[in-house]
Amino acid sequence: MTTRNLIPLIIVLTLMTTNCSSNRREFGKTPSGESVELYTLKSATGVEAAISTYGGVVVSLKVPDRAGALGDIVLGFDDFRSYLLPPPYFGAIVGRYGNRIAHAAFTLDGVEYKLAKNDGDNSLHGGTRGFDKVLWKAKPGNGQSLELTYLSKDGEEGFPGNLSVTVVYTLADNNELKIDYTATTDKDTVLNLTNHSYFNLAGQGEGDILAHQLTLNADRYTPVDKGLIPTGELRSVEGTPLDFRQPHAIGERIGSGDEQMVLGRGYDHNFILNRTGDGLSLAAKVTEAKSGRVLEVLTTEPAIQFYTGNFLDGTIRGKGGKVYGRRSALCLETQHYPDSPNHPAFPSTELRPGATYHTTTVYRFSTGS
Ligand code: BGC
Repeated sequence: MTTRNLIPLIIVLTLMTTNCSSNRREFGKTPSGESVELYTLKSATGVEAAISTYGGVVVSLKVPDRAGALGDIVLGFDDFRSYLLPPPYFGAIVGRYGNRIAHAAFTLDGVEYKLAKNDGDNSLHGGTRGFDKVLWKAKPGNGQSLELTYLSKDGEEGFPGNLSVTVVYTLADNNELKIDYTATTDKDTVLNLTNHSYFNLAGQGEGDILAHQLTLNADRYTPVDKGLIPTGELRSVEGTPLDFRQPHAIGERIGSGDEQMVLGRGYDHNFILNRTGDGLSLAAKVTEAKSGRVLEVLTTEPAIQFYTGNFLDGTIRGKGGKVYGRRSALCLETQHYPDSPNHPAFPSTELRPGATYHTTTVYRFSTGS
């Protein structure tokens, strides 16, 4: 073959290589100079998810409205450096322990472990440098999936055991974003992994979520004290603003004088899911009338934290310069109950050597009338 004949072949090979890696770009550099990458997954049906190796953050999630127009429906930042600032945990993988641990301490096998107090007297979302602030190792799939791994060393943020964690994001052609969480440990430990995406189905930065309609498949929830720590009671939602067994607008009862709504400054509660068996089961459904977008959340987890962005206050400017005001998004964080390590009656969050932690959550998008 002559050099001239080789040129078309070289062009084709170059294009193929570029195409394979075109879903990856540099997002930024950590303060210690490590490169942070952003991977964009695309489904054949046009849904797009951009995921950062820093914090495993879902930076953007574009899904069609009823006219087929793609809109970004999660809060976040265009620039990487904003993710280094104090957290609202936009889109991040949260761990080791999503949600709160009272007094930032727990006892396991007779040993007391002390954690950082990063939320008043309590520990929130894994501590001062949780999984949302670490760099994950990426292994891209076929352009529709991304595997992220992280080794959390024994003693990190006060938790026992070397914990090896894998999170796989998969964007399926039926407009589902699936998240699989797997972990193993070499010492008894506790663990509660989740994703902290803030959704606004009208589009990120497009006002508040009070008119979104929500259904939650939960007869009970864990009432909280003023530090948002569960009291231990499993209370019926019946006759309260927390009853979403039939669809309700989120804003309909959020301002009621109900003690729990006052303590939560809105919805910031863990709902116990009605479930049968261990498989994926429907936890929540959200609809937004103007765009027609529908979000369904399915999970293998026993509970879901419903949070209405009560602590957002308009001081954060996000993607496209949008201002994120109070209740401009909602979180549906699938998980175990908060503070489980201090509540032996709650489903256990303990992981022992030889056992494998595995949970799955699916965010399914569609449109309705
Ligand atoms: C919690 C909120 C907290 C927020 C931080 C949510 O998971 O329930 O209380 O303020 O995370 O972004």
